[in-house]
Amino acid sequence: MPVNWNLSLYKTGIEFMDDQHQQLYYALSSIREAYGKEDEESIILEVLDFLIEYADFHFKEEEDFMRKIAFEGYEYQRQEHATFIDNCNAMKKMLNDEGFSRKFIILLYNDVYKWLINHISEKDSLIAKFAFLKQS
Ligand SMILES: [Fe+2]
Ligand SMILES: [Fe+2]
Repeated sequence: MPVNWNLSLYKTGIEFMDDQHQQLYYALSSIREAYGKEDEESIILEVLDFLIEYADFHFKEEEDFMRKIAFEGYEYQRQEHATFIDNCNAMKKMLNDEGFSRKFIILLYNDVYKWLINHISEKDSLIAKFAFLKQS
């Protein structure tokens, strides 16, 4: 299911957040594009590691920003971020325990897709609204 990242739905209007979300979206696209490729297993391993590392970086930056503006939904955000990292680590463990399969790619894609799109459009957008309201 391709996502057009230019859709206003996924833009928060906070530049650093939008730039970092785009990197996460590229990782999501790489999962989809890996499907059926000769080296799909190594691509997936690489993308999964990138995703965990980059998401961790992004969450720290976003949490710093939320603290700076005293965002009221900070704790909920922090929990959702932790859940995402836990899910990615659980996926990595599943890959180690059960081995690679194309079913795994679909599972990983759907899981990351659902979390990312939902979190950015419904939760991160609230941080931006809060920040803009505070400024005005
Ligand atoms: Fe967030
Ligand atoms: Fe975010």
